[in-house]
Amino acid sequence: MNKPRVFVTRIIPEGGLALMRAACDADVWAEELPPLRPVLLEKVRGIDGLLCLLTDQIDGEVMDAAGPGLRVISNHAVGYDNVDVAAATARGIPVGNTPGILTETTADFAFALLMAAARRVAEGADYVRAGKWRTWGPMLLLGHDVHGATLGLVGMGRIGQAMARRAAGFGMKVIYYDPYFDAARGAAQGAEAMHTLDALLAEADFISLHVPLTGETHHLIDAQALGKARPTAVLINTARGPVVDTQALYDALAAGQIAYAALDVTDPEPLPADHKLLALPNCLVVPHIASASWATRTRMAVMAAHNLLAGLRGERLPNCVNPEVYG
Ligand code: GLV
Repeated sequence: MNKPRVFVTRIIPEGGLALMRAACDADVWAEELPPLRPVLLEKVRGIDGLLCLLTDQIDGEVMDAAGPGLRVISNHAVGYDNVDVAAATARGIPVGNTPGILTETTADFAFALLMAAARRVAEGADYVRAGKWRTWGPMLLLGHDVHGATLGLVGMGRIGQAMARRAAGFGMKVIYYDPYFDAARGAAQGAEAMHTLDALLAEADFISLHVPLTGETHHLIDAQALGKARPTAVLINTARGPVVDTQALYDALAAGQIAYAALDVTDPEPLPADHKLLALPNCLVVPHIASASWATRTRMAVMAAHNLLAGLRGERLPNCVNPEVYG
């Protein structure tokens, strides 16, 4: 019997690839950059399953190019804003993602950005590399304390809660804004619910974003929101770039309306090397690596492969974002 045909849009850790290669006829895109749209449309023709990344826009056109045999889409990420889930559901195709396993790794990194921003780690490294370190200076690269500061979490899902746990260890006060999260559960975790985003922005020293990208959260942090933040506030984004209005953030940083931004995700993404945000001394940008530990990326690859293989066998995906396809 022929093995099911799958297209894998990039090389992922071997743990996941090996599972797919054992059970499928797997076409794995081996380039560093994602397949261009026409290539993607060609590659998916006649496949049974698709394993894609957050860099691939998977919409109805891709699903139709694959044809009626496509029976599972497995996204190698917890976020799935790159997949048109409604289009998949309309075609009866389950969509998988990789929740839970990257929570702690992502929170570690968001906290690393928080610490780096507070204590000017990137600026310090640049200073030494540029040969400017001539003496110990009482006024050199003064930053802000993390202990005793207030962390404002926008979104109190798995990663937001993992941030709250880390903040407790650093003696921070934790507040959060999440209309979908029960205030009593927040209180049990030592975090205080804010009833509006504006209230959080007015109080937080560090504002860390942990929301999925949806119609509701697109440009949640816009000029109006940034206008409510403290001039000493630091914005940390490990969620999705378009949650922040880039132009508004640039204006706020350039005008000193907020103090600093540390961004793992940007809009556009990738951010071109000549983008004006990168010319600002108070903006640290890293290339979407919050979940990038060996262990976590391997777990993600394995989970994405299990979703794919379950879909190919006609079984319920272990992690399905549109369970309504099962009736
Ligand atoms: C990474 O950004 C993910 O959604 O897994």
